[in-house]
Amino acid sequence: MKGLDNVSDAFHKLTLETHQLKWENDLPFSLDSNDIFFQDDALDEIEHVFIEPNLILQRALKNTNLVIGEIGFGFGLNFLSTCKSWLKNSNNGLLTFISIDHKVPTQTEIKRLFKKFKILKDLEDEFFKSFDPIHNGINKFFFSNWNVELILYIGDVIDAIRDLNGGFMMDAWYLDGFDPKANPVMWSNGVLDFIKIHSHKNTTISTFSAAGFIRRGLSERGFEVERKKGFKFKRHHLAGSYSQIEQKQNYKRVAVVGSGVAGCSTAYHLAKNGHTVELFEINEEISSGASGNPLAALYPRFNPNEQPINTLNLSSFFYADRFYKSLNCGAYFRTGVAFLNHDKRTEKWIKKLKMLNREDLFVFSDEKNSTGYENFEGVIFNHGGYLDPVKMNGYLIEHKNINVNKNYEFKSFDSNSSSVKLHFQDNKELTFDCLVLAHGPGLINFSSNLALSKGQLAAAKISDSIHMPINSNGYILPLKDEINWIGSSYENQFQNMDVNKSKLQEMIEFQCDQFNLQNTQNECGSKTQIRVISKDKLPISGQYKEYKNVFLLGGLGSRGFCYGPILGDHIASLIGKNISPLEKILTDSLQPNRFK
Ligand SMILES: Cc1cc2nc3c(=O)[nH]c(=O)nc-3n(C[C@H](O)[C@H](O)[C@H](O)COP(=O)(O)OP(=O)(O)OC[C@H]3O[C@@H](n4cnc5c(N)ncnc54)[C@H](O)[C@@H]3O)c2cc1C
Ligand SMILES: C[S@@+](CC[C@H](N)C(=O)[O-])C[C@H]1O[C@@H](n2cnc3c(N)ncnc32)[C@H](O)[C@@H]1O
Repeated sequence: MKGLDNVSDAFHKLTLETHQLKWENDLPFSLDSNDIFFQDDALDEIEHVFIEPNLILQRALKNTNLVIGEIGFGFGLNFLSTCKSWLKNSNNGLLTFISIDHKVPTQTEIKRLFKKFKILKDLEDEFFKSFDPIHNGINKFFFSNWNVELILYIGDVIDAIRDLNGGFMMDAWYLDGFDPKANPVMWSNGVLDFIKIHSHKNTTISTFSAAGFIRRGLSERGFEVERKKGFKFKRHHLAGSYSQIEQKQNYKRVAVVGSGVAGCSTAYHLAKNGHTVELFEINEEISSGASGNPLAALYPRFNPNEQPINTLNLSSFFYADRFYKSLNCGAYFRTGVAFLNHDKRTEKWIKKLKMLNREDLFVFSDEKNSTGYENFEGVIFNHGGYLDPVKMNGYLIEHKNINVNKNYEFKSFDSNSSSVKLHFQDNKELTFDCLVLAHGPGLINFSSNLALSKGQLAAAKISDSIHMPINSNGYILPLKDEINWIGSSYENQFQNMDVNKSKLQEMIEFQCDQFNLQNTQNECGSKTQIRVISKDKLPISGQYKEYKNVFLLGGLGSRGFCYGPILGDHIASLIGKNISPLEKILTDSLQPNRFK
């Protein structure tokens, strides 16, 4: 990319490619591959080639989860047609649709197809509420009202095979690359091997193509594939099923310790995937650690270098924004987030952001005063915002599969290959299939690579006009109950949790200076909590030591509300053997046993 010679991974992630198209009869034609995407009667063809052979309607009746894999997302017509069938039978299970494509259409281009295929019209609003591809790699979209989750990997299919992570199995496969002659990589041995690895005994598969080498390739890998009557003038297409590896839906009973953002997010994702969760909290109220702060902001600062922390910061920020928004529970204020250009380091960073030309993500002036900050200079992220953590966490654990146990102090566990026994204060013992330890500071008993830092928020009334979190040296949040919460202090060496008044005054003074106010503001409250930070600043998220049924999630530092949702999903994917929302290279960097 021009102007960015050493484009870091994090920044490369933000350079999306769109299709080179021409339109004929209101249908897109790919100039990249010199091929059509679909024909006038595309929806009937999809029904014939993908929906019927993969028994989508019948499976939707079963009230269980369904996982579909697709090679070639295109304009999402297969996805939308599948949702239509899924919704017809109002399934209580979760539909996870995983698709791969190296290019994405623009919203305007997809809208043209909604106009053409009117039968999909009733899905349009809900689709665009959630579908918002932002970066290369894994983008996850939550269609809560449909009980559907879409994982779209944006990138070459070969990279997807390397990056997609977890012991996931597809129940159905749609093979929908362009014509195999023009687009051989989408039908290559590597792709067929990937399909085999992620198939189980009842997996079905279909494609519009009848090419002999695809049929042979699938048969050699254990699929029983038939040539079926093709759609309309086409003679044949291929459909079949896999005949090996038994897989049952294996719902687990999971104990989650800690009801902060880490524990509640993990519980949510587990429950959504059909597992049952007992959540244990030491105190009388949930989220009584750092996740009990009165407000918290999403902090989307990722630097231009290839450290995993920057790719994690980017992915987790956009994930969290979509996730909180999809819950629609009144605890998330999606205002955008601003950074003042207050020092040389930030100035350099903003310059790099400008080079990305992503006006959809970053704005560099504030003509309409959307920050509410006079004479704003800096960058505004259109996504993100701030939230009421306790309300959000409470909402996450409302699911019928989650039971909350307060006043339970977890002490230790014993594990064997099939179960884990938890020991609580007062000699209580309980046994589960799996255990997730997400009890914040309590994790230092399980990892010597974690450290604690004391942090304070100051409460004062500074500005009633700001509309979004404003970051500079610390942050200030919009008014809640006539208070601006100001964050935060860091004390790595601390003896006690006493309020450090002079620190609070410093933080308030700084904000008063920024807002050109006389410091007449009295501190009107404060909150002191503990952060947990690992040696390399990355969270820990994964299996604990050699225990296959024990997992750790913590070390979320100052970004718990960005990291919690995606890492909770990752832990749930390890337990349920589903697809992780994180790429493999990242999950390796987060392993609790990574430290030497
Ligand atoms: C001052 C300050 C400001 C911050 N501001 C932000 C912000 O704006 N945005 C952001 O994203 N992050 C912010 N953070 C960081 C964020 O709050 C944390 O990263 C996050 O809350 C950690 O969540 P957690 O679930 O890992 O741990 P915690 O929130 O600490 O939750 C752990 C839970 O486990 C319970 N528990 C502990 N021991 C046991 C036991 N033995 N048995 C059972 N239960 C137990 C605790 O009571 C607690 O409820 C801030 C942190 C501080 C300190
Ligand atoms: C026929 S279209 C898919 C149509 C789509 N299933 C739909 O419902 O709209 C084929 C898709 O394969 C994608 N593709 C081609 N080569 C690819 C590659 N090497 N890696 C990833 N995707 C690729 C194209 O970008 C195109 O969107």
